[in-house]
This record gives sequence, structure tokens and C-alpha cells, in this order.
Amino acid sequence: MELQKPRGTRDFLFEEMRKRKYVERTLKRIFELYGYQEIKTPLFEDLSLFTLKSGEGITEQIYHFQDKGGRDLALRPELTAPVARLYLNQLQKTPKPLKMYYFGSCFRYERPQAGRFRQFWQLGCELIGGKSPYAEGEVIALAAHCLEELGLEDFEIHIGNLGIIRGILDQAQVSGPVQDQIMALIDKGEVEELKKFLTNVNLEDSYKNILLELIGLKGHREVLKEVEKFVGNNSQAINALQELSDLLDILDSIGFSSYTVNLGIARGLDYYSGTVFEIYVHGLGAQKQISGGGTYNLIELFGGEKVESTGFAFGFDRVMAALDQQGAPLPLDKVVEVFVAPISREVRLKSFQIARKLREAGISTETDLAGKKFKKLMSHANNLEVSYVVLVGARDLEQGQVTVKDMESGQQELVALEDVVDFLVERIRG
Ligand code: HAM
Repeated sequence: MELQKPRGTRDFLFEEMRKRKYVERTLKRIFELYGYQEIKTPLFEDLSLFTLKSGEGITEQIYHFQDKGGRDLALRPELTAPVARLYLNQLQKTPKPLKMYYFGSCFRYERPQAGRFRQFWQLGCELIGGKSPYAEGEVIALAAHCLEELGLEDFEIHIGNLGIIRGILDQAQVSGPVQDQIMALIDKGEVEELKKFLTNVNLEDSYKNILLELIGLKGHREVLKEVEKFVGNNSQAINALQELSDLLDILDSIGFSSYTVNLGIARGLDYYSGTVFEIYVHGLGAQKQISGGGTYNLIELFGGEKVESTGFAFGFDRVMAALDQQGAPLPLDKVVEVFVAPISREVRLKSFQIARKLREAGISTETDLAGKKFKKLMSHANNLEVSYVVLVGARDLEQGQVTVKDMESGQQELVALEDVVDFLVERIRG
């Protein structure tokens, strides 16, 4: 029997992990520049955390199981609900706004394809207790900053506000659960299905037409003028439109104006209440959405006080795919910088000592662990792509010296044993 990994999961090998770690570090650094602090929550939670308010789309995709105590548990499909739970458990008294970020894997039982996995990673944040539109403006600026720092080009940030469509559906007296179904169809972009559904639920033609027009509206600021025509005197929609306009003012004022207003954004989770945004990289094809988020009221839905919250999560795997597709080389550190090569058996212990000193000085170092002959050792050092080899020979040692070979230039230099660490630190870090 050949052992296989489960469908929709991946193994990551060395090179890929180095790239992922670089991107992880960079994104975390930018989150911290905006005052976010990292948190970790469990990989599994009570099933009800996700079935209560996350929406049908997610509920169908949940990996759930019973433990030996008969508890219904779920592998987390996302991290906003766990963070809201954590907030309710421990952080309600912490001064706000509260800024948290996370990096962790999520699980969704989806049909795997390029960019869509059953285990995938999210790097995201939640800002609890900020006020719209300032919190949203900063969160969107943070998302853009992250991608710019990574050197990602050709990404598009699309911004909408659910209050506009919800306001119109409320006016048409469409019930909450039916609204959620409508939002799910808008989110999937299934316009024909949506039309059929709206007919089945007997939505008046005038509302139906407004809705279909609205979800097709996309463009720069001028789109707001178009929206105005549709919202009439619907106060909820007018407020949402004003919120959107205020948010765009903030983004314009900080010099970020390359957004697209998109009224067709519905998000696949039911807890969003106002501003929503998604980031696309079109070259990725069907799974082009590399990030999504917005303002939500999950804490209140879970029984806490009304506290405005905004957040978003990068689909980490899709960010990686976008960088890869763009072909921009990531600045990766060397795996091993120095190889300490004993020329003969009797100097092996000395090599161990030198390697230890180099590691203590923060230089990644390898030495011979396989008893290889000298020629093989040099070819091993070549394969490792080290910058320097320290050649440890009995005759040099008698003079209190070793030979350091610069692997790029090929030049060799005799260095006093007691100076070799400083010499290499200077060369490598200098
Ligand atoms: P989401 O849009 O469901 O939002 O997921 C965030 C991102 O995760 C997506 O934009 C996508 O890039 C990535 N993603 C989703 N499913 C998969 C998959 N099967 N394979 C690979 N990548 C995937 C949320 O989860 C919200 N919790 C985001 C949020 C935070 N909203 C407020 N705060």
C-alpha cells in the first residue's frame, strides 16, 4: 500500500518553506508596524462557534468530528469567529481599539483545484472597537502596504458596502435568512441562479432590477453617483453610501486611490455588516481572491456588547502563488553560510570545535557528519552553496592556522585559528 497525503493537502519542501517563511516574516513585520500583536487560538473549536453565524457556505464545508467525550468539534475554517470567542472569554475589559493578528491553518471541505485547498493558511487581523470609516481606512491601507512590501504588482483592491444591498432588501421586506441566500449567490457570481432565485422568492421586479444593476456597478469614485440614483430615499442604503464615501475620502487623503468601488462584493460569510473588501490578482484565474475582509458584528451576534470590528485575512497560499506567478525573486538568506571541512580524520574534533564557535557567533555552519573523503566534502559544500569553507588541516593547525576559502572568488587565505570566527563574521555580516 502506498501511503498518500489526504486530498487537498500539501507537503512543503525546503525551498518553498524558505519562501513562505520570508513572506510570513515580512507580513508579520508590517502588521506590527500598525500596532497589531500576534495571538494563537486552537486548531479546533466547538462546532457551534462556526455553525451559529458564519453562514451556510462555510457550514457545508466544515470538517467536524466527535471526540471521545462525545463533544462536537470542528477544525477551524477561518479565524474571525475564534478571535471573537477569545475576545469574549478574555479581552472584553482590555482598552480598545484592540489590534490582533494571526497566522495559522484553516480547513474547508472544498473541491480542490489550483489555489483551493482543504488545508490552507490565513494571515490576518482583527481590529476590535475601532470606528468606521477610520478603522476600515487603516485596515485597507495595511493590506495594501503588505503587498507593496512584498513587491507584488497588479493587485486590485475592491471595496463595497453591504448596507446598500441589505437596505434595499430590507425595504422589500426580504427576511434575513433569504437575504443571506441572496448574498451567497452574489458572492459566487452566479447571476443566472440569482435571477431565478429572486423570481422564486417573488421579489418585486422594481427591486429585482435595482439589485441586478447594483451588483454590476464597478469603477472609481464616480460609481457612487450611479448608486445614488438607485437608493432613492432608503435611509439605510443612504447611510451605507455615505459610509463608503467617507471611507474613500480617507483612502484618498493618505494617497491610496487605486481602489475599485464594487457593489457586487457580498462575501461568503454572513457576519459582515457594512464595509467589505476583497483583493484580486487576476493572473491567478478562478481563485484570484487573495484576501477578503470587512466590518462585522460577530461579537454582538455571539451575545457580547455592540463593538464595531473590522478585519481581513490574506489567503497565504494565494499570496505565495501570486508572487510565484509574477516571478519576482524573494531575497532568501543562505541555508548554510560556512562549511568546516576536516582534511583528515584526526582533525575532525577540531572541526567540531570551530563549527560550534561559529554557530555561537550566529553563523549557520555545517561540518562533516558522514566521514566523507575530502573531495566528497568539497562537493557537498558546493551543493550546500555555502559562501565559505574552512579547511582544517593538520599542518596548518600546527602553525595555529586554518585556511578559509571564499567559494565565490575561489581565493584562499590563511587565518589564525583564534581569529577565524571574527574574520568570518566580518566577511559575512560586515
Ligand atoms: P475568506 O474570504 O473566507 O474570509 O477567506 C480569506 C482568504 O482565504 C480568501 O480571500 C482566500 O484568499 C483564502 N482562502 C479561502 N478558502 C481557501 C481555500 N480553500 N484554499 C486556499 N485559500 C483559501 C475569511 O475567512 C474571514 N475570516 C476574513 C476576515 C477576517 N474577515 C474579517 N476578519
